[in-house]
Parts: sequence; C-alpha cells; structure tokens
Amino acid sequence: MSVLEKAGLGGLHFPPEFLWGSATSPTQVEGETCNEWAGFIARDGSHADEGCEGWHDFERDFQLIDDLNLNAFRLGLDWGRLQPGPGQPLNEAVVERYREMLGWLTGRGIVPFVTLFHFACPQWLAQIGGWTNPQCPAFFADFVRRVAELDLPVQHWVTVNEPEVYLTMAYLIGIFPPHKRFSFTLAWKAFRNLSAGHHLARAALKSHNPDAQAGIAKHFKFFMPHRRWHLIDRVNVWLCKHLFTLRMLEAFLDDGKGGGSDFIGVNYYGRMRVKGFGDISPVSGTPASYFHALDSSCDDMWEQDPQWLAKLLPSLTRRYHLPLYITEAGFATADEDLRVRLFAEHIQSVHAALENGADIRGFFYWALTDNFEWAEGYTKKFGLAGVDFASENRDRQLRPVAAVYAAISKHSTRRPPRHAG
Ligand code: BGC
Repeated sequence: MSVLEKAGLGGLHFPPEFLWGSATSPTQVEGETCNEWAGFIARDGSHADEGCEGWHDFERDFQLIDDLNLNAFRLGLDWGRLQPGPGQPLNEAVVERYREMLGWLTGRGIVPFVTLFHFACPQWLAQIGGWTNPQCPAFFADFVRRVAELDLPVQHWVTVNEPEVYLTMAYLIGIFPPHKRFSFTLAWKAFRNLSAGHHLARAALKSHNPDAQAGIAKHFKFFMPHRRWHLIDRVNVWLCKHLFTLRMLEAFLDDGKGGGSDFIGVNYYGRMRVKGFGDISPVSGTPASYFHALDSSCDDMWEQDPQWLAKLLPSLTRRYHLPLYITEAGFATADEDLRVRLFAEHIQSVHAALENGADIRGFFYWALTDNFEWAEGYTKKFGLAGVDFASENRDRQLRPVAAVYAAISKHSTRRPPRHAG
C-alpha cells in the first residue's frame, strides 16, 4: 500500500498549480532577536533569542522544503532587524541575507509568500506605543515601500499575520509584549492602525509592482458554546464569530476608500469551546482526556476539527469571492500517528472544499521545523522536522508526516522549471 493510500489520501486530485508549502515567522526561527521579543522568557523558561539558527543557517532548513518537493514557502521579513528607526534606510547586510534566502527558493521553483508583520514590533516602535501609536500605519507603510523598492522576487505578501490574535494576546490577555491586560481602548486603537497599515502597505506594494498580491493571514476557529444554552457562552460565541472573525476580516478586505485585499490567508487550528469569558482547551488547562471522552481529538494546545474546514472554505468563497490560501495549519503534538491522521483529515477537507466550489489555491503546513511557540516556548512541537534543542547542532529529524506530505505534493504538483543549479 502506498504512503498516500495508508494515510487515506489515495486517489485525491488537486489542480496542478496548487501550492503545497510550509511556513515560519522570523521571531520564531531566526534567533538573535532584534525586536520587542528580545529578552522574552516563555512559560517553559526558554528565551525567544535562542531561535533555531534560522538566520545563520537557513539553507539547512530550506533544503528540507526542496527535499519534500514542496513548491511554496511562507517566511517573514523581520521589521526590527531590517529598519533601525522610523523612516530610516534598511540595513543593507540584512537586506542581502533576505535576498539570498528568497533567491534560494525562487531558484528552485519554490514560490515565496512573505509576511511583513508577524506579532513583532521593532524595539524603537515598541518604545513609542507600537501599533497604538497614531503614526504607526505611516511608519509601516514607509518600511513596506522600502521593501517594495528592493525588487525582491516576491509576488505574494502577507501584510499582517492574525491581527485579532495579536490584539488579544498583547492588549487583552497580556501574554505577548507589551503585556497589557483588558486594555480595550488600546486594543481598539491598535486594530484601527493595523487595518490602516495593511491598506497603506498594499498600496505601496502595488504602486511599485501592480502585479503584487497582498492580503492578511486571518485566524479562523469553529467557535461553539461550551454550555449549549448558557447566555454568556452564546453571546461570546456570537462576538467571536461576528466581530472577531467576520467584521475584523472585512476591515482588511475593504476600507471604504478603495483599499482591499487580493486574497484571504486562512490560519486554521481547530475548534474552540467558549465558556464564559474563557475557553476549554488543552492550552488553557483542560486535559486531553476531556476531549477524548467527548469523542473529539486535540493536540497539546487545541481541540481539533478538520471537517469544519470543508464548510468554512466554500462559505468564504461565496461571501468574499477572493482566492484563498491556507496560510497555516498544523499540530503541536509528540504523537506522530495523531499528527499524520490530523494532517490527512485536513487535506481531505481541503479537497472536499475544492469540490464544493472553494477557490483555494494553496496549503502551508505550520511549521517547517519546531520553533519558538511564543508564550509557550520551545516545548510545543509543530515541525515537519523535529529539532533536537539539546544537541550541539540542533539536529533536525523529519517526522513521519513529512513523508506523507512529500507524497501528496509529488502526486499532485506541477513544479515550475528550475533556474539554479
Ligand atoms: C501563529 C504562529 C503560531 C501558530 C501556532 C498562529 O497563531 O501565526 O506564529 O506559531 O499559530 O500557535
């Protein structure tokens, strides 16, 4: 039996131009952190600054993308590493390094998706209020204009990653810098500035290259009330669905002044049972056995619901008529059978969504390697490749899911011709 048949993926056909990728973000892999996460200590006692040597030795990990026959990769440019102050020229050595990375990918026919803001403000910006500063959209637009002028070999740009997750973690729950709790006014200001920043950034990219495609990566969850008829649970589910998901997304799709998005990036990590003002999930302390008793599955952080993706994606196409990319989906687990099963079920759902009319163009597995999982540190294992953080060279080891992913991309991808040796 082939790897695909064994995983339940035999006989699935995807469009030949479908992008099969993986993803990372600068703060989570680069190390030697140059932004507001410098010095951050996670719940497991680890430091953001350690990283996974993604800055010094990117080739080791990029080679995995090539080995797995993936034809796309999502990475980010670190604003703090690139720009030493507001309105200042970009650091040339850093530019060259990113140019090298992007050239490596495009030379092998791997399509890059590049994120411009992924949960991390430069330190100089953090000191003056980050995204709550009214000048921040203009600072961001200046940074993006300078990036656009570099003529990097990039067509797809993710301006902002998961605005609502960032706002919640930074200004409401307070476990991300700048560690504000229940600061609704600051969260609102930051939201307004993030959406303005997205529209200005997209305009800057398009004015330099009219073919540039820019959108955000939006977090989607299937929200359900933990207590079916409990008023607070139900009201909060409504708020999560309508304000935090749809209205939030729409602010980035249309600013009423001609600004918009060229695609919707979908980051999907499953289901959330809302209980009062909190949630029931492994990361909030509910044991896995609780979900198993409900005949549901979970990883080390969240309850999973691969099938919901098959409903979500066609509904987004019907509502917004924009190309969709799964810009992130992945699982934090040490149970490799579970990872393979969840991966296969997500792919089956994407396939079902395509058959039901979803305009879905690509899938990016989170993440290429284990990395710094923000407030949780390095103990959450998402990688296609595991990283042995105790070994001197931080050895990489591909996980069983990688073989399944390589088989599906090989089976269904037409890869652009190679340009480099
Ligand atoms: C973020 C990633 C993160 C992943 C897993 C997403 O919310 O964009 O940075 O590592 O989820 O938690």
